[in-house]
Parts: sequence; structure tokens; C-alpha cells
Amino acid sequence: MNKLSLIKLVVVAFIFSLGLTAYSFLPKSEVQSANNSAVSQKEDEDLLNIKNYKKWTKVNDKPHLMDSSVSALCAAPTQAQVDRESKNPHNQKYINVYVNSIGKTEMMTKKSPKFPQGTVIVKEKLSTPDSTSPELLTVMIKREKGFNPENGDWEYMTVNGQLTEVTAKGKLENCQACHALEKSGDYVSRNYLPYNIRQKLK
Ligand code: HEC
Repeated sequence: MNKLSLIKLVVVAFIFSLGLTAYSFLPKSEVQSANNSAVSQKEDEDLLNIKNYKKWTKVNDKPHLMDSSVSALCAAPTQAQVDRESKNPHNQKYINVYVNSIGKTEMMTKKSPKFPQGTVIVKEKLSTPDSTSPELLTVMIKREKGFNPENGDWEYMTVNGQLTEVTAKGKLENCQACHALEKSGDYVSRNYLPYNIRQKLK
């Protein structure tokens, strides 16, 4: 092999390896990002659905002061978190509750509501009554009949205050245990319903 063809060979090999490197990089990152967005899109379906919750019907009028024992519990998906939060002496919180159009009539006018499938109720937890950015959201979503028959077919969800992350979701035991006490109200408490509206429930 003469010197020239050796150089040619090295150059070709170099270009080939460059191409190989580029090839191994590009499609992989493309596949990866496609996968990621597919996954997050799937996870985000309910998150997307609540993005505009502040435009829904606001159920309470003034930010409702939450009992501090409930504050720790009606937020944390795990017992460890509950324990941590309930030890915090500053955990007096305020809430606002919003309901989407599907659940509005039951929420605002019925004495014994039976929320239709597709109802979404968002409760935002605020550290001060005038805060505009919630610490977190707790959410109840009414699923199809048979989804969760012992608990009114509700799914529970917690979301971070920036609305970017679902922190827990499902038939969450901790949430259900407490909301089961409100069975007569279809597992919804409504203790924040304004007095004048409560008076008119039929
Ligand atoms: C200690 C009992 C308790 C636990 C546990 C609890 N909640 Fe609640 N939840 C309440 C009470 C009481 C209210 C009424 C509003 C208030 O006082 O904060 C409420 C209100 C709500 C509301 C507004 C609709 C309604 O029922 O009036 C949503 C949504 C909600 N909770 C979601 C959740 C989620 C999600 C979890 C689990 C992460 C959870 N809750 C765990 C007691 C609880």
C-alpha cells in the first residue's frame, strides 16, 4: 500500500466514524424526546384539563380558612408527609375550591349531589388569603361508573403549585379514608359553600 492510499484510507475511516457517531447520536435523541413527550402527554391529560381551573366556577366566596388538622391531611398523599406537615405549627392554610361546568349544578344547587362523570373539583391550598400562587392543588375527578365503586368512582390527584407536575394520582387511600365520611354528599365536603347558597340547596 502506498502512502497516498494509506492517507485516503485513514481519511475515509475518519469520515465514516464521524458519520457513525453522528448517526448514533441523532436518531437516539430524537427517539428519546419523542418518547418523553408521548409519556408526559399521556400523564398530563388531567393536568391539561385543569390548566384553566381559575376560569371555572369558584364555589366559595372568600378564601376559606382550613382547619389546620385537615390542612396537613387533605394534601399529602403519604402518611410520612402527613406526619411532617402536621408537626409544622405554621400550617394554617386557606383554600379556594373550583368546579368545572359538568359538576356545577350539583355543587351549587343540590342538597344530595350526585356528580356526573367528567366532574373535576380543584381545591387550591394557599399560605395566605391573598396569595395568587397556590402551594399545591388537590383534585377529585369523577370517572366512569365502576372505576371505584366503593368510593363514588372518584379519582384523587395532587398537583404542584406551578401546575407542572402530578405528584400523586389514583384511588389514593389517604384521601379516600377521609372523604368516605362525606358519603351523603357524594364524597364531597362542601363545608366552604357560602351560607346563602347552602340555604337554597334543593
Ligand atoms: C383529614 C381528612 C382529609 C383527607 C385525608 C383528605 N381530604 Fe380532601 N377535604 C377534606 C375536607 C374537610 C375538605 C373540605 C374543605 C376543607 O376544609 O379544606 C376537603 C376538600 C377537598 C376537595 C374539594 C371538594 C370537597 O370535598 O369539598 C378536594 C378536591 C379534595 N379535598 C381532595 C383531596 C385529595 C386529592 C386528598 C388526598 C391527597 C384529600 N383530599 C385528602 C378532608 C380531607
